Amino acid sequence: MLFGHSKKVATSAFELKVRTELYTLVEIRTSLQQQQQHHHNFFLRHLMASADPLHDLNVEVDLATQSLLLAAANHDVRAVRDLLRTTPATVQDADTGFTPLHAAVAAFDDADDGGEAADTGINGVPAADQEEIKKRELEAAEETVRVLLQNGAIWNDLDNNDETPGCIAWRLGLKELYEQIVDAGVRAELLLTRLGEYQPLADDDEDVEAEDEGQEGISQAGVQQELNVQSSTTPADPSASNEAYLSSTLTFTPTDLLDSATNAVMMSWETPIMERHASLLLPKEGLRVLNIGHGLGIIDNFFQSHSPTTHYIIEAHPDVLARMKQQGWYDKPGVVVHEGRWQAVLPKLAQGEGELVFDAIFFDTFAEDYSALREFFSESVVQFLDSEGRFGYFNGLGADRQICYDVYTKVAEMDLFEAGFDVEWEELKVEDLQERGEWAGIRRPYWGLETYKLPTCTFVG
Ligand SMILES: C[S@@+](CC[C@H](N)C(=O)[O-])C[C@H]1O[C@@H](n2cnc3c(N)ncnc32)[C@H](O)[C@@H]1O
Repeated sequence: MLFGHSKKVATSAFELKVRTELYTLVEIRTSLQQQQQHHHNFFLRHLMASADPLHDLNVEVDLATQSLLLAAANHDVRAVRDLLRTTPATVQDADTGFTPLHAAVAAFDDADDGGEAADTGINGVPAADQEEIKKRELEAAEETVRVLLQNGAIWNDLDNNDETPGCIAWRLGLKELYEQIVDAGVRAELLLTRLGEYQPLADDDEDVEAEDEGQEGISQAGVQQELNVQSSTTPADPSASNEAYLSSTLTFTPTDLLDSATNAVMMSWETPIMERHASLLLPKEGLRVLNIGHGLGIIDNFFQSHSPTTHYIIEAHPDVLARMKQQGWYDKPGVVVHEGRWQAVLPKLAQGEGELVFDAIFFDTFAEDYSALREFFSESVVQFLDSEGRFGYFNGLGADRQICYDVYTKVAEMDLFEAGFDVEWEELKVEDLQERGEWAGIRRPYWGLETYKLPTCTFVG
């Protein structure tokens, strides 16, 4: 089931306090008297601290922030609109990191946890009425979220619990709010790409290192953690750019391929995913396939098992190429290994004699960002794929966080459509990799989701 996913999160003492206040706010929405009392409590600490004249300004700013957070948590759309005239939607509570968007979503945290029998409902209110109240509350929340997003709220700001508003919506199973935020993310990311200002799904305060992040290491949270702990003596992260990665030394363990900073370039837990991609791309024997990025050779072995007539592999890393030689890839029937980056190899192939087309193309590189994938399918796949052919790629961008994954998946789908492709998605279950101990010794866990969305693309008919 897509929703109802529950993630255990560590909650700081102060956040618990603020959340408690927010829960209280939800409960007292129907009671003006209680609400006034709560306002009083909520602001008391700021009002008490106003002896210092310099503090006045801070107090004013903090009051404005708290008022907007409170109105958002109350789903008081009119108050939110009023407050947005003077207070930006991007404000964050200093203690919790909550933005108004976080507050609007987090207001549902345990809001209906009454634990009473379904027919009697909570506090003696019949279950049917409870349902109606919840429905209205959700409608008010949707409107609040809409107004905040229209007024510049940022869809992927992190709170101090390392959650975006969408993460909270996902955790609480708030499907409508979650989808609203995903759509906002898609709009923002599409706009950024259209403006030629591609940015990974990350916060403003992340630096350029994140902008060149590798495909399997693009994790917003991961990057941020890295930045927090990275000192000037820490060696540079080779996954930050394709160039740096290609000149780093690789290590092959019995199961994984790691770069010099223990980033996982490829891991064998992906084997079932690669197997399925290969079967969907080569549904029968005797087809022509092009694979970009050999890695551990997992998908190339599956391609071989489908007996292709032509099997081109483009691989850029010298250590991977050396291993391919050792393992006899250069001598396999039908296999042609092209050494170099796909960006350099493909133009040369295009200039060769005769038309070169494939029935299947697969793309899975490392230390390249979404713009590389987009460039690949909009320029190279349209050129090298047979009109009846199929294109697949490892869909792993943003995969340590459900909302980032869903945003990237949708952005790619829209860009693919613009490039002339239909996409069929298949969902594959992924085991809990943390539980399996897969991340031991790996610098940055790049996958944290239950479901892999496998894309198979064909030309729009
Ligand atoms: C994630 S691994 C591929 C794993 C592969 N799908 C498998 O089943 O084992 C990525 C591979 O792409 C290669 N690579 C990275 N950038 C490249 C580029 N620009 N052109 C060609 N290959 C590249 C890496 O060296 C690495 O071998």
